[in-house]
Amino acid sequence: MSSWRGHSQQSLGGLTSHLCRALFLLGLFVASAWSVTPTPQDCLILRPPNSHGSSVSCFSAPEFPSWLPGDTIHLTMEFSNLTQLPAAALHGCPGLRELHLSSNRLEKLSAGLLLPVPNLLVLDLTRNALADLPQGLFRASAALHTLVLKENRLQTLQASWLRGLRALVHLDLAGNCLHTLPAGLLANLTALSTLDLGDNQLETLPPGLLRGPLRLERLHLEGNQLRVLGDDLLAPQPSLRYLFLNDNKLTSVAAGAFKGLKWLDMLDLSNNSLTTTPAGLWASLGKPARDMEEGFDLSHNPWVCDQKLSHLCLWLAANRHKMFSKNETRCAGPKDLEGQLLLAVVGSQW
Ligand SMILES: *[C@@H]1O[C@H](CO)[C@@H](O)[C@H](O)[C@H]1NC(C)=O
Ligand SMILES: *[C@@H]1O[C@H](CO)[C@@H](O)[C@H](O)[C@H]1NC(C)=O
Ligand SMILES: *[C@@H]1O[C@H](CO)[C@@H](O)[C@H](O)[C@H]1NC(C)=O
Ligand SMILES: *[C@@H]1O[C@H](CO)[C@@H](O)[C@H](O)[C@H]1NC(C)=O
Repeated sequence: MSSWRGHSQQSLGGLTSHLCRALFLLGLFVASAWSVTPTPQDCLILRPPNSHGSSVSCFSAPEFPSWLPGDTIHLTMEFSNLTQLPAAALHGCPGLRELHLSSNRLEKLSAGLLLPVPNLLVLDLTRNALADLPQGLFRASAALHTLVLKENRLQTLQASWLRGLRALVHLDLAGNCLHTLPAGLLANLTALSTLDLGDNQLETLPPGLLRGPLRLERLHLEGNQLRVLGDDLLAPQPSLRYLFLNDNKLTSVAAGAFKGLKWLDMLDLSNNSLTTTPAGLWASLGKPARDMEEGFDLSHNPWVCDQKLSHLCLWLAANRHKMFSKNETRCAGPKDLEGQLLLAVVGSQW
């Protein structure tokens, strides 16, 4: 069970830990309902036994707390409508490992914000109003492994914004307004394993985008405006296991686009504008080589079920046990096959 620290515990001194806990929680709700300056009562301070430091969680606090315990390793400050953080906000907690700031209204961060916290591992800025990042923000963030910038207002990125990130494993840029990306964005992110670019406005990607990471495993590109998947994009990442390309406008996937992807376990191409796929595209995926662990989804595309689709249909026959949304994977043409299940056509035609 957790032990409790902080001012509230002092004021509740002699009570048993159970009662103490109940009152503390009650106090937390009451305090957050009427206080106007951030006091420790706006926040919950935990110091679990055997942990390396305090964990502070504040919700709906009106300002960033100025009294953080010096041993804070985990700080959550969410749903508070904060528009800015003091430049020196983190000076008092050099051991900070996780900083969760989602669901505020942050528009700007100061370049020196993270300098006092070189051991930071996780920075979550989900659902704020950031349109850019200051140069040098991560210059002391060599340990950071997770950076979440999901649902902000980024329209463009500069590779230099990420300078200093050497250990990044997880980068989430989903739900912004990104139109283009710089080719060298990931050049120095050798440890990157998950990249989420979903739900942006990307129409094209620079062919060299994925050069840099040594072993990317998960790539989210769903919910963009991509029209073409070329031969080059995925080539540097043969270890890719999860690939999401659904909800784009793909009309064309190059014959070599999946070449070398021997370990792909999940492929989502649903809800695009594909009418056919070129011969050879499917050669490295699934059976006969190796079963995909998760499966694949080709539904909601206007497939034209003529002879040109026979390569795909033969592959489907061997991999149907891994196919999602079978009932929504139908022919849009030719006329006499319109509305037919692709799998039914596989059986009857090829
Ligand atoms: C944040 O703003 C929203 C919308 O204006 C409001 O409903 C909510 O109560 C605010 N939260 C806090 C903690 O001030
Ligand atoms: C990548 O690393 C090289 C060598 O350390 C450096 O010169 C370059 O500026 C870095 N690029 C970015 C975008 O961080
Ligand atoms: C297909 O994708 C569009 C966005 O590109 C989305 O609005 C729509 O709901 C999706 N349809 C299905 C069936 O998922
Ligand atoms: C398959 O799709 C058709 C047409 O969209 C629908 O009428 C039918 O209920 C679906 N069947 C199943 C088993 O979902």
